[in-house]
Amino acid sequence: MSAKIIDGKAISANVKEQVKAEVERDKLDIGLAVVIVGDDPASRVYVNNKKKACEFCGIKSYEYALPAETSEEQLLELVDTLNADKKVNGILVQLPLPDHINEKKIIERISRDKDVDAFHESNVGRIMIGNFAFLPCTPAGCMELIHSTGIDVSGKNCVVIGRSNIVGKPMAMLLLHENGTVTICHSKTKNLAEVCAAADILVAAVGRANFVTADMVKEGAVVIDVGINRLENGKLCGDVKFDEVSEKAGYITPVPGGVGPMTIAMLMRNTVTAWRIQNEK
Ligand code: GUN
Repeated sequence: MSAKIIDGKAISANVKEQVKAEVERDKLDIGLAVVIVGDDPASRVYVNNKKKACEFCGIKSYEYALPAETSEEQLLELVDTLNADKKVNGILVQLPLPDHINEKKIIERISRDKDVDAFHESNVGRIMIGNFAFLPCTPAGCMELIHSTGIDVSGKNCVVIGRSNIVGKPMAMLLLHENGTVTICHSKTKNLAEVCAAADILVAAVGRANFVTADMVKEGAVVIDVGINRLENGKLCGDVKFDEVSEKAGYITPVPGGVGPMTIAMLMRNTVTAWRIQNEK
């Protein structure tokens, strides 16, 4: 059997169309500040894509591109300024930050009502108890892709590989909120292949090219590939060995064109939510 490809590009375009229509309908004047420190090429690509999405949706974007030598104190000052700026409804500080800056300190300084990444510990806590304003963009995008298959998460065996704060942990929580039976795997997991092979829904967020092979996948499973790995030949590749896994899975996301564009679409949705939180209290 050959898997159906989940078209993240088309689904994300749909989400952005919805956001654009909402912004136009309600004549919303929304601003997103995007902060990038240093010149990491991957971060530059992400930030450019975020700006393009804003333009499409009718959201104003304000870019702050700071040199790599920017001090923690200077970045904290910028966050304070953006927190107080009425034109700015969402604040996104692109990660990773240079080593001399404490990421946690910066994230915690962002007003929780402008934290469109949902990285602030207050927003993380709210995801845990199911009372959230913002969903973290990448896991929320994965959930949209899973929903697009028409498969109900309730009662399914869900396995998430990876336990990062940005993807693995919140992903597990969102699956749990929909009554999935969730296992989180990581580098210390025993019998990883066996655990993964029992999954009806498998989410790979490992950060290692071609990590998930066909023997780790159940026949007909939904496979969501969060990985974006650059190979030596310059090509992008996911965490899943696409050629062989797509012969066995029921549904699979490609890389590129799967989870990546969804993350940005969900950021647009969160930015509208931020505006509503700030203006419709
Ligand atoms: N770096 C990699 N992914 C992300 C993301 O979703 N948000 C931010 N701010 N930085 C990232």
